[in-house]
Amino acid sequence: MIKVAFYDSKEYDVSSFRKYEDPDRFEFKFLETKLTADTASLAEGYDVVCVFVNDTVDAEVIDKLYGYGVKLIALRCAGYNNVDVEHAFGKIHVVHVPAYSPYAVAEHAAALLLTSIRRIHKAYNRTRDFNFSISGLTGFDLHGKTAGVVGTGKIGRIFIDICRGFGMNVIAYDKFPAADSGIEYVTLEELFRRSDIISLHCPLTEETLHMIDADAISLMKKGVVIINTSRGALIDGEALLDGIKARKVGAACLDVYEEEADIFFEDRSGHILDDDIISRLISMPNVIVTSHQAFLTEEALANIAQTTVGNILSYYDNDGICDNELCYRCGSIEQCRRERKQRCF
Ligand code: NAI
Repeated sequence: MIKVAFYDSKEYDVSSFRKYEDPDRFEFKFLETKLTADTASLAEGYDVVCVFVNDTVDAEVIDKLYGYGVKLIALRCAGYNNVDVEHAFGKIHVVHVPAYSPYAVAEHAAALLLTSIRRIHKAYNRTRDFNFSISGLTGFDLHGKTAGVVGTGKIGRIFIDICRGFGMNVIAYDKFPAADSGIEYVTLEELFRRSDIISLHCPLTEETLHMIDADAISLMKKGVVIINTSRGALIDGEALLDGIKARKVGAACLDVYEEEADIFFEDRSGHILDDDIISRLISMPNVIVTSHQAFLTEEALANIAQTTVGNILSYYDNDGICDNELCYRCGSIEQCRRERKQRCF
């Protein structure tokens, strides 16, 4: 019997994972609380903890989980910036879901873009109030505009295809450009200078932290639309707010926010939000915020549950060898993925 504790679980997690509950194989416990050093003790007696994007899995938490006998941390997401994977090496195995629906995220980025530049959010509110005026709703054509895509992995490439479908010119920046992809790669600085629309699809790392800051915004075209469906801390929120107030940034579409961990995924209506930056951003007519929902499609949820359960079973049934393990045995996660032939430790 494999005992799995799910942290930060929502009703959609419960319904997608419940179908894998098997009295001979699995015992699931769904916890609403996030994983932190204070809540790690709830995992005592469990073999696996299943976590999401805003759970804290730092060195302290890993040591606690290790002490409680947890053997596997199963991320039910792709990004792993919230996990100290290096510290986990040799103690607890870490697996993730590398892709569940890149279409979900790329399509959400496109939905935010269209909503924003065609003022759909404004029109929706007006017509619900029988206000059929279209004054102030002027948008602009995407056709012929330049989209700058940062990160040309699974999601970035689908977003590129969507942009091309609109007749946009696409330029891209990636630390590891894809050879023979037909993508026009430029430097990050050139991308900032030339793009009408900038969409972020790279991971959050030390290098990409605040890649959009005041200096980056100063290089951009007046009226630039910035879309972030990747990780909040890619953008310095204060610099973005300044860019909007200075009328330099034409619109911002944000599915993620640097300080989202204590705000997103919960009903905060009726509360006074302490975070002045997100409050001010939300108050702007040209900012659209969704609370980390880009992944949230039926297809993605089904894939997340299936892959996560597969990762756990692979660990138990396949002598600990799992294609989706994140580990540092070979010096880096990418290297390890290429060279892995046996269990990581
Ligand atoms: P991926 O791994 O397929 O692609 C990431 C790309 O970023 C790669 O081409 C990589 O070479 C590039 N990259 C790495 N370091 C870079 C750097 N310093 N500068 C520029 N590019 C760099 O990942 P995928 O599946 O396309 O996901 C991208 C990001 O989307 C994830 O890291 C995650 O943070 C975010 N995400 C957000 C979701 C949401 O619901 N909002 C859901 C899933 C992912």
